[in-house]
Amino acid sequence: MRITKNTIGSRILVSDLKRSYRAQSREIDKAVLRVLNSGWYILGYELEAFENEFARYNGSRYAVGVASGTEAIQLALMSLSIGRGDEVITAVNTAIPTAMAIISAGARPRFVDVDEGTANINTDALAEAITRRTKAIIPVHLYGNPCNIDEVLNVSRKHRIAVVEDCAQAHGAKYKNKMVGTFGDVGTYSFYPTKNLGCYGDGGAVVTDSKVLSKKIGLLRNYGQPTRYVCDIEGINSRLDEIQAAILRVKLQYLSRSIVRRIEIAALYEKCLKGISEIKCPSAAKNSRHSFHLYVIRCSRRNDLKESLAKNGIETQIHYPISLHLQKAFKHLGYGKGDFPVAEKLSREILSLPIFPELKDAEVIKICGYIAEFYKGI
Ligand SMILES: Cc1ncc(COP(=O)(O)O)c(C=O)c1O
Repeated sequence: MRITKNTIGSRILVSDLKRSYRAQSREIDKAVLRVLNSGWYILGYELEAFENEFARYNGSRYAVGVASGTEAIQLALMSLSIGRGDEVITAVNTAIPTAMAIISAGARPRFVDVDEGTANINTDALAEAITRRTKAIIPVHLYGNPCNIDEVLNVSRKHRIAVVEDCAQAHGAKYKNKMVGTFGDVGTYSFYPTKNLGCYGDGGAVVTDSKVLSKKIGLLRNYGQPTRYVCDIEGINSRLDEIQAAILRVKLQYLSRSIVRRIEIAALYEKCLKGISEIKCPSAAKNSRHSFHLYVIRCSRRNDLKESLAKNGIETQIHYPISLHLQKAFKHLGYGKGDFPVAEKLSREILSLPIFPELKDAEVIKICGYIAEFYKGI
C-alpha cells in the first residue's frame, strides 16, 4: 500500500517538528507572549525557574542554562580548568560538536573506538588511550542509549581525571535507574529543536551536584561577570534566553510522557522488523533505559534501502556517515582510515528511521512494510 495524503500525510520525516509544535502550540504561544510582554529577555525569571525544574527532573542539585549543547561542553571543560596542553578523550562516532567543544576550550581531542553492539565508547580502548596529558573523558550517550558509565568511572577514578557526560541525545535516559548526566562531574545537554527536549532555537544546559562548578559555569556563560560591569574571570557569552527557557518549561512537562511514547514506538519497530534477517534493531544496554532520541538500525545494502524508502516518502538519516577521525577538519590530529574499525563499519551500516512522539503506530507499520518489501525484492 502506498502512502497518500488521506492516510498518513505526504511525507514521514525522521523528526516532524511542525507536528510536535502543533501538539502544544497553545501553551507555547502563551509562554512566548508572556516573555515578550515582560520586557525582560536575558537572565531573568523564566531561566531561573527552568534551571530549577530541569535540575529537579534530572535529580541533580544544579542546572545552568547556556546557549547550546556545544557550549555546554566547552563551559564544562573551562569550569574544570581544562584547556591548552590538555587532552580530552571522546568516542570517535559522536556528533562533530563534541570534538569542536573540546577544541574551543583549547584542548586536544583524542578519539576512542566504540562497541559494535551499543555504538558507545569501548571502555577497554578508553583505558588504553589515557596519557599523562589526559584531563577528562567525555562519554556520549549516543542516540539516547546510556554508555557503560560504571566502567568509564572506574577508568576516570583510577587516573583521577574528570568526566563530562555528553547527554545531548539522552534527555530522560537512565542508567541503573538514575538519570544520565548525574554520574560524572558534569552532564551537558542540548536543546536543539529535534532533541527529546528541544526549544525553538539553540539552547543547552549543564547539570552538576557541585556548587563550585555551577557557580563557575554561571560566571563563565556571562563574560565572567558576577554582577553587571564587574568581571572576575575570563568568560564567554553563552546564555539561554528567556523565550527559549519559557518554551522549555512547557515542553519539560511533557518530557516523561514523550519518552514513554518513544519507547513504545521503538518496541513496535522491533516487533515489526523481527523477521528481517538483514536488519539489527537497537536495544538498551543492561540496567538502562534507552530514551530513543534516534531509532538507529543496522542493515545490509543501507544506501539502497535509504533510497527506496525516500522514493516511498519516508525520510531517513545517517548519524553519522563519516567518523570524526576521517573528517577534514580533524586531519591535524593525525588519524587515518582503519584506525577505528568498529566505528567505520557502523558508519556504513547504520540508518536512522523516523521517531518522534507524534509518530503514529500506523506510520511505523507502514515504514516496516516498505522495509520488508525492499528485502523481499532483492
Ligand atoms: C552528541 C552531541 N553532542 C553535542 C551536540 C551539540 O549540541 P548543539 O547543537 O546544541 O550545540 C549535539 C547536537 O547535535 C550532539 O548530538
